Amino acid sequence: MDLEKAARDVRENAYVPYSRFKVGAALRAPSGRIYAGCNVENVAYPEGTCAEAGAIAAMVAAGETEIVEAYVIADSAHPVPPCGGCRQKLAEFAKGGARVTLATLEGHTLETTVAELLPGAFGADHMDRT
Ligand code: THU
Repeated sequence: MDLEKAARDVRENAYVPYSRFKVGAALRAPSGRIYAGCNVENVAYPEGTCAEAGAIAAMVAAGETEIVEAYVIADSAHPVPPCGGCRQKLAEFAKGGARVTLATLEGHTLETTVAELLPGAFGADHMDRT
């Protein structure tokens, strides 16, 4: 299964009674395996989780910790950019050059990278005083 199909398929399962806005995300790991996630909302709104977070959780639960490529899809007029928190979550597991494709259901895509999505990213080296 390719990354786009995985993201499209999992998007259908999004639990979005509050926003009605379904998002699907799929990640490819170095093994070639694909991990998918959808947004899961909650009546206590801040407890909802984004599609990217779900896909990352699936990847880590399966024993992998690197994102080679990511694909995010939503039913919008223009490709939806990941929220700030998800940019940081993607950066935790991806090299800066990792490709991120943002897509609409109609097939409009915007290609970017993890580094472009999160310039000036906070990293572990910023905690180093030496
Ligand atoms: N959402 C995602 O799942 N990923 C994104 O990249 C943008 C926003 C979700 C969160 C919430 O369930 C809904 O979209 C509306 O914000």
